[in-house]
Amino acid sequence: MKTEHTPAVVQRLDYTAPAFWIETVELTFDLDPAKTRVLNKMQVRRNPDVPAQPLRLDGEELNLARVLVNGNGTSFKMDGGQLVLENLPESPEPFALEIFTTCAPVKNTQLSGLYVSQDTFFTQCEAQGFRRITYFLDRPDVMASYSVLLRADKAQYPVLLSNGNLVESGELPEGRHFARWHDPHKKPSYLFALVAGKLVAREQKITSRAGKEHLLQVWVRPGDLEKTEHAMRSLMHAVAWDEARFGLSLDLERFMIVATSDFNMGAMENKGLNIFNTKYVLANQATATDTDFANIESVVGHEYFHNWTGNRITCRDWFQLSLKEGLTVFRDQEFSMDMAGSASARAVKRIEDVRVLRTVQFPEDAGPMAHPVRPDSYVEINNFYTVTIYEKGAEVVRMQHNLVGQDGFARGMKLYFERFDGQAVTCDDFVQAMADANPASPLAQHLDAFKRWYSQAGTPTVHASGVFDAAAQTYTLTLRQSCPATPGQGDKQPFVIPVTLGLLDAQGRALPLQLDGADLGTEHTLVLHEAEQAWTFTGIASQPTPSLLRGLSAPVLLDYPFTEAELLTQLAHDSDAFNRWEAAQRLTLRIATNAIAATAGAATGAEQNTANLLPESVVHALQSILEHPQLDAAFKELVLTLPSESYIAEQLDSVDPQRIHTVREAMRRQLAQALQPQWQAAYEANAHTGAYRPEPVAAGRRALAGLALNMLCLAVQGDGVWAGKAYQRVKDAGNMTDKANALQALIHSSSPLAANALDYFYRQMRHEPLVLDKWFALQAAAPDVQGSALPAVKALLKHPDFVLKNPNRARSLVFTYCNANPGGFHRQDAAGYVFWADQVLALDAINPQVAARLARALDRWKKLAAPYREAAREAIARVAAKTDLSNDVREVVARALG
Ligand code: ARG
Ligand code: ZN
Repeated sequence: MKTEHTPAVVQRLDYTAPAFWIETVELTFDLDPAKTRVLNKMQVRRNPDVPAQPLRLDGEELNLARVLVNGNGTSFKMDGGQLVLENLPESPEPFALEIFTTCAPVKNTQLSGLYVSQDTFFTQCEAQGFRRITYFLDRPDVMASYSVLLRADKAQYPVLLSNGNLVESGELPEGRHFARWHDPHKKPSYLFALVAGKLVAREQKITSRAGKEHLLQVWVRPGDLEKTEHAMRSLMHAVAWDEARFGLSLDLERFMIVATSDFNMGAMENKGLNIFNTKYVLANQATATDTDFANIESVVGHEYFHNWTGNRITCRDWFQLSLKEGLTVFRDQEFSMDMAGSASARAVKRIEDVRVLRTVQFPEDAGPMAHPVRPDSYVEINNFYTVTIYEKGAEVVRMQHNLVGQDGFARGMKLYFERFDGQAVTCDDFVQAMADANPASPLAQHLDAFKRWYSQAGTPTVHASGVFDAAAQTYTLTLRQSCPATPGQGDKQPFVIPVTLGLLDAQGRALPLQLDGADLGTEHTLVLHEAEQAWTFTGIASQPTPSLLRGLSAPVLLDYPFTEAELLTQLAHDSDAFNRWEAAQRLTLRIATNAIAATAGAATGAEQNTANLLPESVVHALQSILEHPQLDAAFKELVLTLPSESYIAEQLDSVDPQRIHTVREAMRRQLAQALQPQWQAAYEANAHTGAYRPEPVAAGRRALAGLALNMLCLAVQGDGVWAGKAYQRVKDAGNMTDKANALQALIHSSSPLAANALDYFYRQMRHEPLVLDKWFALQAAAPDVQGSALPAVKALLKHPDFVLKNPNRARSLVFTYCNANPGGFHRQDAAGYVFWADQVLALDAINPQVAARLARALDRWKKLAAPYREAAREAIARVAAKTDLSNDVREVVARALG
């Protein structure tokens, strides 16, 4: 919605129950791209608990033709898009409300509501897209029964799908046909969906544990059927997992997934008819990487798990979004871990999840868009589908899981469904059920304080200090917490922070933990719930190394003055794989930030001496990991990957992105050169993983081989041997993981062969849209050799395969450059920021939701050093000065400047 006046702010505390309920909805669609006719017949009834008032129905970009109440014409008025009905029957009995509208799906470039993609109709209704289809009480607490009649030309739209069960279908005159669907479950409007077009399905019949038969379908365009095997397999695993782990079975005869290449987000959990971005459905070894395969499993799981956590129990209002998203992300993370199998593979998944939390959510929580997991206000709800709602929300659920234990969590889930099945509820309702099912748990003990995780924004820091008393043989650990102010929240009350820990002796052996006379084994979770608390462990014979926050037991920062020796001990010996990885991150992060501080004040930073920043001790420790005979390749790859530039930036008060880039690249080159024989050995041991299977062990080996090849190309830049091998691999590799890694190795070492390899890749893959996305993204992330990155991106904007309207393509080129190429984006001449502003404005005219995501690329501008800071502010101000900006982009830039 475009507005020229100040957009309205929606406040959480303004929630009131709806004045009317909609009990049933009968929708009839005559599908036509230019003009689709929608007849909406509802049974509506006054909510007796609310004072009498007019019925205000939401609508957007609709042409209204007719309104009938109990079959008769009625007076109505329009108010800011809403349709207002004042003279409605006073009786508490239901009345019939019939509304006839038309809309223009082919003109819908926002991809919200009913739209056309590649001659196929799709819908996206979350959060507020249903109002772009018909007038409605478009809010999640209004749950109705839906019957849907679809009519369309049979040749053009042979497949007609909607939620629930197919009731009947047949022919109509003039080459048209129809299908009638009925959804047996009540649902909010945001879960409505329809699809119509030329599609084909992979089908699978399954029998549940309870002996019920279900039909699973994955619908795609005809040429894509052979790329649906992994999605179907993932769906079958998800169904079985939810039954086994939570006793939750599929509640529909038929469950459908449909893929579209035009989609704003990842996927959508519409009841019985999930609609997915093709990126999270289509895969075969020639086109998809191991990461793609893993993402498909996780997103298919995520949307399927929403069937219970989201659909059966939904959100009372959009401030409660994390009720379904945080919980469902937690569930999909657990699903992926259970699928991964080994303890090591689980740790790898946890490290990957934590990396996202730290590099994306922590910055969000420290920036202008910081908001609580349950926000207090918003202008545009689509801006609040954030890493805070999703990933931090999942951490908040994970802490509850850890505080009540796995069985306790299952009991809490059971109680949650007993209490609230079929209802629209709040985050408080969920935590209360968890606590009530586990009355003796620390969660129940500290329930009110725990709930601050939902109401207070910002990433807390845990400041730890330890005192060893040799005479008393005790070790006293003091934990203090603090949390910085965030927009609108000055003072914070203490959080409830579970701190899982172990103590290591100088040889890295786990020490037995004794607290208040109790033997706790070698690992224990302390619950920090006050501003500061101390614990004294007894029976400690020598100065221990604390291994704190194992597995990142809470979404916090840890401030503890580790010595290098302590970190080296942890890296070599910690029984917690997560903290082993963490030790390497801390060691290298500290060196990076010290080097950056040391070069501060230098003209560009580029001329500083950045050779051999890593001391021998650290290089040697990393070498031991790389050569380790037992550790999994996937884990090695994570340990040997330096902290990202954006993570390094977050540790600094003043950010010079060029200096960060220079220092990190220098460290990378040092590791490449110092460990050349080890990289070569790692490459040779892992370069060939046999017949392709997208499972964690083989994927880890491919990841390590990919890193090794990158390092080898970097180590001997100019020398043709490794570049030649990489080039050959781009041509010969039998899977996309190896192929893309080899291409990246050439690009990131600025090899003269990169251009030819890109060309080869393009010619081979030009008919695969998802692979072309990778081709664009690889170039958008290319090193900025003499300012070449931006001109290259601008040239690609003109490439015949570039389409700004397609969100995946826009993300692959424009977003990758602005978000994932800091060395190329943050230019002294500000041209990167000018480009960003131009693209935000261009996208805003097409698709405000996608534009608002791009608008967030400069969120952290206030941390930037001169000259970047002022140039970034100017670029944001230029966007903000545009008069006909969407609410979506306006909210983001206003908060950034505010
Ligand atoms: N509920 C969907 C999911 O988590 C995301 C839908 C987001 N849609 C939006 N317009 N913001 O899978
Ligand atoms: Zn979700």
